[in-house]
Amino acid sequence: MLQAKGQQQAALRAAAAKAKKEHVGNKVYLRGLVEYSNRCAKNCLYCGIRRDNLAVRRYTMSDEEVVAAARYAHEARYASIVIQGGEIATATRAKEIARLLDKINAATGGSLGITLSLGEQSRRTLDEWKRAGARRYLLRVETSSPALYAKIHPGDALHDFGARVRTLGYLRELGYQVGTGCMIGLPFQTIDDLAADILFFQEIDADMVGMGPYVEHDRTPLYRHRESLRPAAERLELTLNMIAVLRLMMKDINIVAATAMQALDKEGREKALRAGANIVMPNITPVKYRGEYLLYRDKPCVKEEADRCRSCLDARVRMAGDEIVYGEWGDSRHFARKMAGAPALNM
Ligand code: 5AD
Ligand code: SF4
Ligand code: FES
Repeated sequence: MLQAKGQQQAALRAAAAKAKKEHVGNKVYLRGLVEYSNRCAKNCLYCGIRRDNLAVRRYTMSDEEVVAAARYAHEARYASIVIQGGEIATATRAKEIARLLDKINAATGGSLGITLSLGEQSRRTLDEWKRAGARRYLLRVETSSPALYAKIHPGDALHDFGARVRTLGYLRELGYQVGTGCMIGLPFQTIDDLAADILFFQEIDADMVGMGPYVEHDRTPLYRHRESLRPAAERLELTLNMIAVLRLMMKDINIVAATAMQALDKEGREKALRAGANIVMPNITPVKYRGEYLLYRDKPCVKEEADRCRSCLDARVRMAGDEIVYGEWGDSRHFARKMAGAPALNM
């Protein structure tokens, strides 16, 4: 199924489009993405802003800059934002984020649905952030295979598969809407690994999933395996098939049309929406920082001001046959059903 081509692929995509329409509707919700800081204590072997990449100029946005971006999202009626950054698990960072959440809520009357994506943190810190007003947390497991995880990360305590899965458990216990996901087309990754990723999302009962193709970056250790990668077009098709299968298996969750799709194909995000995704994350980071947040090559919207993305997105989403819903949080229906005690819709 994941490698479906031709007629089989068309049937898969059509079934996913139908499930999307039935269970989440042809509606797309936006999450304004704030790339808060590229400082990171980690050294993931695939990532362009890994600690050992000394060619990156490190930055952390000021509170004023983050609040201005949040105001922009509020005024543009995006309704939700994601604050994303490298993994810094210090007490100072924990306080900074709690303070930032207060400021954002004060500036926007608590009207924004806030997602955090700041890596693995202690249960205590995650609890503090939840209390300060974060509703959702994104932490991609990257791959559900411990063996593959070990191949794409340094083999030290800071990059531990078990710790990552434990953190996902804390998020669930603390009442966050839990987002996770994986990369597709990694070196050494098999189709069985990808099938296991989907089962993993089901097992942890994810409320949202973001999956994107792996895009090699020349200043990373994994770059030396570039010859062994599936061609970009194949990674893209595989990602689209993963989205379609996931939509069929977890019908009412939020699925992101990842920006990395667009690095491989100009219409990557639209294709993701047609395959079953229902969330888009327009970048609202100040343009002066975007060039320093390059997790992978050919990242889109690096030079575009937020306003340009806004009009561009509207047209693109329409091209995919969907409509952007402004002014609504667009919480995962899956999460809402669970809260209401309804039986899960998972297959
Ligand atoms: N290609 C694609 N995605 C990447 N990420 C990091 N590096 C790359 C890359 N080279 C993704 C990871 C991480 C998210 C923020 O970006 O999945 O969780
Ligand atoms: Fe840091 Fe995330 Fe990049 Fe890993 S993927 S090096 S944790 S920013
Ligand atoms: Fe940024 Fe199209 S979404 S330019």
